[in-house]
Amino acid sequence: MRQKIVAGNWKMNTTPAEGEALAKAVVAASSEVKGVTLILGVPFTHLCPVSKAIAGSDVKLSAQDCSAHDKGAYTGEVAASMIAPFGAGYVILGHSERREYHGEDSAILNEKMKQAYANGLAPIYCVGEKLEEREAGKHFDVVTKQIEEVVFNLSDEQFDKLVVAYEPVWAIGTGKTATADQAQEIHAHIRKVLASKFGAKAENTPILYGGSCKPSNAAEIFSKADVDGGLIGGAALKAEDFIAIAKAF
Ligand code: 13P
Repeated sequence: MRQKIVAGNWKMNTTPAEGEALAKAVVAASSEVKGVTLILGVPFTHLCPVSKAIAGSDVKLSAQDCSAHDKGAYTGEVAASMIAPFGAGYVILGHSERREYHGEDSAILNEKMKQAYANGLAPIYCVGEKLEEREAGKHFDVVTKQIEEVVFNLSDEQFDKLVVAYEPVWAIGTGKTATADQAQEIHAHIRKVLASKFGAKAENTPILYGGSCKPSNAAEIFSKADVDGGLIGGAALKAEDFIAIAKAF
């Protein structure tokens, strides 16, 4: 059976103290969640306090990005080797906000993937189309390209650790959610593209949905065969909502 995952992407929200309190609240309620891996995607500054807050629990830690370089004169950058020692097991890569506001393209993301794997971080690789691309019927082509240009460069062994997140840009933070059928349709497509390169292994790849996922719509979206969980933004900032989403399976 594929791993079920509900991952929070806190983005640039919460002070370190607030983040620590949020992580503690998630840990406290996490025993209510069965059979779902919970991951907290926190700002770099929160890796230390949150790692302490989740110590001894099953809750996992993720960064939201890492540098494409291993070390050196890259002011403001944070290397994967600086993230892993906090016990982080994951890093979100290729989020649409990174692609849009920081010009991240496949060339950069290939380097980031290498850094992640070299330091034992499993990438949560984000793909998804913009509104105009969906309206033009290009969404399948867009995600295919995002996968081919980056994921197809992984070795079989690396691919085994990959998590994919489908996040339609038009649904992020807008309150607009893809319908469960729209999510299933494109998740199935993503799995087919993965299988075209990695064969039956693609059956084991968790593919998460992200974009205005909340307690009220999670159950329907998660009921679909190729939706293996969620990457949650706004609703991950409240422990109660985050846990309710994880309980929606
Ligand atoms: P929202 O859940 O706030 O729409 O954000 C989704 C997202 O971008 C998660 O990475």
